[in-house]
Amino acid sequence: MEKIFMNKNDLKNLKKWFADYVSAFYTDDYDDNLALNVKKGHTMRVCENIVMIGRKLDMSKHDLIIAETIALLHDLGRFKQFKEYGTYNDMISANHARLGLREMAAHKVLSICLKAEKELIIKAVNYHNSLKLPSGENERTLHFIRLIRDADKLDIWKVFLEFFHEKNNRQNNIFMLDLPDEPEYSNEFIEALQRQTMASMKDMKTLNDFKLLQIGWVYDLNFVPTVQVVQSHNIIERIEALLPQSKEITEAVSHAKEYVKMRL
Ligand SMILES: [Fe+2]
Repeated sequence: MEKIFMNKNDLKNLKKWFADYVSAFYTDDYDDNLALNVKKGHTMRVCENIVMIGRKLDMSKHDLIIAETIALLHDLGRFKQFKEYGTYNDMISANHARLGLREMAAHKVLSICLKAEKELIIKAVNYHNSLKLPSGENERTLHFIRLIRDADKLDIWKVFLEFFHEKNNRQNNIFMLDLPDEPEYSNEFIEALQRQTMASMKDMKTLNDFKLLQIGWVYDLNFVPTVQVVQSHNIIERIEALLPQSKEITEAVSHAKEYVKMRL
């Protein structure tokens, strides 16, 4: 029978392939395996998040399968990145979206897809971590890029908040992107919060910058169901609690809080 669309079974097979692919990266180093496990868990939760958002947006069954495939593959490059560079910080290693696309091509992961599906998946993986949405893409492509960006952020916040209190161990450093935990923070991130724009990861100098940046991610959210999770899980307040207390920070963060309220 001629192939029409990607179906549930294709996705199931891809999940099996993914699990095998990841398992090849494990070594006898406990910390490294844990770091890989967290990314594997992240992938599974981003799959759940994207389906949750997609269902609330009344997407078709087929489009939900495409969306979940994007989520499954969006961070594929993380495993190679960690193996080669020992970090998840793209700024001091390589862009993990590009690494993932290279791996997908090398392993012919999308050979089961139709051309149109393949293009969507590749573009969504490619732009899942870019500072801005690309210009010149059609609405359908942008829709899937927006979905993965929202689904991904929800889980990055979760992982960050979970690992933050695991003080002074290797895990903490990995998920804090190996940034120095000093009391300073950079003005760019304060200004970005005030202007309600997203700052760039490349400007991060301290762990506080990363916290401010993550609060500013709310300005990049695309869908109301995602904003609702940010609100109900008190994401902004919980990250704010990890920052030094100052008038300047409280004031800057209040802009992000107002923005969330406005979006609901
Ligand atoms: Fe990613």
